[in-house]
Amino acid sequence: RNVVILISGGGSNMAAIVRAAEQQRWQARHGIRIAAVVSNRADAGGLAFAREHGIATEVLDHRAHSSREDFDAALARTIDGHQPALVVLAGFMRILTPAFVTHYAGRLVNIHPSLLPAFTGLHTHQRALDAGCRFAGCTVHEVTAELDAGPILEQAVVPVLPGDDAQTLAARVLSQEHLIYPRAVLAHLLRQPAG
Ligand code: GRF
Repeated sequence: RNVVILISGGGSNMAAIVRAAEQQRWQARHGIRIAAVVSNRADAGGLAFAREHGIATEVLDHRAHSSREDFDAALARTIDGHQPALVVLAGFMRILTPAFVTHYAGRLVNIHPSLLPAFTGLHTHQRALDAGCRFAGCTVHEVTAELDAGPILEQAVVPVLPGDDAQTLAARVLSQEHLIYPRAVLAHLLRQPAG
């Protein structure tokens, strides 16, 4: 079963999944392989990591497309070229059209840096600090047409510490993201019937 991971930047979550797949021998033990890493930005740092790990990479520049629908259709064609059993959004900073989400219904997941349903959208760490939260965290969820609102698959909690700012809190949350995302991806695939 093939996994396609979508990134826009550093791709640290993608890297964590790739490392888990290698270290836990997903291909030999479960027939799961990371088939491709796809980015909407040619300068995404994660592309170099993927190439170093022998994973096919593709770049689709959203600026080369006249509409969101046109880009998403091209993106789906590229992804489908790898016959994905699961499409993983990992720091992919694009809002996807309902048609794209429908096309991958049940096999499209995302990680969001808050304890959903709290703090959907952007700047989650600063908003949690501004709200005086004592805890923060991250959520892996199925992607549905509604932004950051699909069924929750995994969560992790971190404490907000005195003196935290958005950067220190983000780093603490990110380290948890790297733990829960590989686990959630594998669980999602093993729960699906082989095929
Ligand atoms: C992370 O905060 C993640 O929660 C969000 O994008 C940020 C960067 O992720 N989805 P990555 O390092 O590019 O994986």
